[in-house]
Amino acid sequence: MSDSKRIPRHLAIIMDGNGRWAERRHRPRTLGHRAGARAVQVCLDFCLAEGIGTLTLFAFSSENWNRPAEEVGALMKLFLRMLDNEVDELHRRGARILFVGERGEFPAVIQEKMRRAELVTAGNTAINICIAAGYGGRWDIVQAARKLAREVRDGSLAPEAIDETLFSSRLCMAGLPDPDLFIRTGGDLRISNFLLWQLAYTEMWFTETLWPDLDAVTLRQAMDDFASRERRFGLTSAQVSGTAQGNAA
Ligand code: FPP
Repeated sequence: MSDSKRIPRHLAIIMDGNGRWAERRHRPRTLGHRAGARAVQVCLDFCLAEGIGTLTLFAFSSENWNRPAEEVGALMKLFLRMLDNEVDELHRRGARILFVGERGEFPAVIQEKMRRAELVTAGNTAINICIAAGYGGRWDIVQAARKLAREVRDGSLAPEAIDETLFSSRLCMAGLPDPDLFIRTGGDLRISNFLLWQLAYTEMWFTETLWPDLDAVTLRQAMDDFASRERRFGLTSAQVSGTAQGNAA
């Protein structure tokens, strides 16, 4: 089944390659992250133009805290600057901003600006921009299990009532559709602890392009490839073409 108009409702991206982009230019890795922030704008413009409903960006993993202190510090400065400079413009463009991850480890000033960004943009509907920060897929599953365990302990939930839908509702992206398309830049072919639960039936797309080099042509390639794929969700091809055409995206 091919439908050139089919676009993902939810696009999730691992923005990899900032460090290598800088190293190839004999510049500090932090310069790559700054260039990566510009690529975020390119990506966002594309998603808004395409009508993609949710964009999730892996900005900082739970493991990234273990990078050299200088790089972590530079990333914190960059996040703070983006929170100061970009939120009002994103609000003007109708974006709802959400942060997913363990934010307790971020400096208080960043946590406060995350809260403000979420509050200010809460009513917007043009696009959801979900920033995964301090995020790990295993962490997300564990925190959901912990919430459910507390509810069982408190007597408000029977263990038999726990099914996939209920479990999903305790994950930190509850309420958003699972990603239809996953993109990883930078050439590595792995998920790296991103959205482990939510990627179950997501189409995967990998590119050698380093994140700071991202452009609309590369994103268009990913969209065209996505539109040409048959998504079967465990069904047969005949079942999908006979009964589910148009529902897969
Ligand atoms: C991975 O590249 C990228 C990061 C750990 C940081 C991503 C941050 C940005 C793109 C800027 C801010 C964006 C938002 C949405 C707040 P890497 O450093 O692992 O690259 P490498 O694999 O080449 O070393």
